[in-house]
Amino acid sequence: MTTQGSDAPRREIGVGLIGLGVVGGGVARALLERRDYFARRVGAPLIVRRAAVRDLSKPRAVELGPGVLTTNVDDVINDPAVDIVVEVIGGEEPAGSYIRQALQAGKHVVTANKELMAKSGPELLAEAHSRGLDIMFEASVGGGIPLIAPFRRDLLANRITSIRAIINGTTNYILTDLARSGAVGHALRSQGIEPPPGGGFAQALAEAQRLGYAEPDPTNDVEGYDAAYKLAVMATLGFRNRVRPDQIDTTGITKLDARDFQYAQELGYVIKLLAIAQVIDDGIVARVGPAVIPQSEPLAKVDGVYNAVQIEGDLTGTVLFQGRGAGADPTSSAVVADLLDLSHAIVLGGRERKYWGPEEDMPVLPLERLETRYYVRVIVSDQPGVLAQIAQTLGNHDVSIAAVSQKEADASAQTAELVVMTHRAREGAMRAALRDIEALPVVSGVSSFLRVEG
Ligand SMILES: NC(=O)c1ccc[n+]([C@@H]2O[C@H](COP(=O)([O-])OP(=O)(O)OC[C@H]3O[C@@H](n4cnc5c(N)ncnc54)[C@H](OP(=O)(O)O)[C@@H]3O)[C@@H](O)[C@H]2O)c1
Repeated sequence: MTTQGSDAPRREIGVGLIGLGVVGGGVARALLERRDYFARRVGAPLIVRRAAVRDLSKPRAVELGPGVLTTNVDDVINDPAVDIVVEVIGGEEPAGSYIRQALQAGKHVVTANKELMAKSGPELLAEAHSRGLDIMFEASVGGGIPLIAPFRRDLLANRITSIRAIINGTTNYILTDLARSGAVGHALRSQGIEPPPGGGFAQALAEAQRLGYAEPDPTNDVEGYDAAYKLAVMATLGFRNRVRPDQIDTTGITKLDARDFQYAQELGYVIKLLAIAQVIDDGIVARVGPAVIPQSEPLAKVDGVYNAVQIEGDLTGTVLFQGRGAGADPTSSAVVADLLDLSHAIVLGGRERKYWGPEEDMPVLPLERLETRYYVRVIVSDQPGVLAQIAQTLGNHDVSIAAVSQKEADASAQTAELVVMTHRAREGAMRAALRDIEALPVVSGVSSFLRVEG
């Protein structure tokens, strides 16, 4: 902390940035361009005192003045003029160590780091609290969409029973493209570029990369890990109960087939990558995966790079937050909001911050305990009696069929395609039934298995 006493008026709040990339650059720009407005809100100007980067020679989105940039993170953390350290480098390490060092040096912390907060958030919050400091992380989930503050304040009177979210813009862009265009790759073609062969997912991913909506290495997004980190942060806050990313059953979108989008559409559904955590009986179930949802659902209408989070509170009922989940401006809006909140507290005398870590002790249950409906696509021999065998096998596991339709037959292979929608069933029973179905001599394979989450 700076040497100014709590009873002396604050001349300024010193901000130290670790990272000056997409988010850090956006934050620095907002602090410069809106300096007078923020000073009026807070009661003192917020000044970027130091900013750590890896490469001093890189061009920057913002001019910070001589002596501000450094490649030594210690210069930021240990500068006595820095009151709040903003960590915007990402990843578990060295970000976690830098945040601990900042707390040890008596600095409040603002971070946009979903992976770190998902894996170590409660420990870091406890460490901050023990020192009378705070860590704020609004930007870690949903970019510019207010989520952490509502969980922490506005929804506090509620018992939250479920969180359902489209929380990864890259995958939502790809899935929207797959659903809309049938002729996937049209955006690439419109720019005179021939999309890669293979159709479906590969083309939609190439398109998203070309437009800057997907990273060159898209693994974290398309395998669902990014969504799982964000769900872990939201569920831990919302349920006030620890939910770790490795307790979340996670499936990505890479195995989806364009045919499922067509069939889902014919049945009145869409396919979205959903992150869902809910309280059932005596515990929590949490999953990230592609899901079939009715076209009439609010989440079904969230397209492109947009994110949305639907929360059920026992007092509020359903509330829905929607907006841009990434990008320099929306994300800097969230980081700066945290900075303004902390700065205001410092100006008011730096009073002790409230602990907001998990307090409950519910177990995170295996997904076998989930009960929902399912969409299954099966390749079968094109002969009479096959459907009866499949219905019987499902029935053996107490799974009943709600609707079935026969799709294209492949005359040369003498196979046909069946799409089955079930009634509600336990996931454990459904998985066991699928194993038995795959073993039937009349079945060539189960091509798709998706939850119907409506
Ligand atoms: N981008 C978004 O839309 C978005 C949205 C929400 C949350 N976030 C989160 O925000 C964080 C930052 O993301 P970003 O997109 O801004 O990343 P980025 O553009 O890659 O920027 C990272 C910055 O950190 C610096 N850096 C990396 N490692 C460092 C180290 N060891 N020491 C000092 N500086 C280091 C880099 O320096 P150089 O510039 O010299 O390479 C760069 O300035 C991540 O946690 C991310 O998940 C991002």
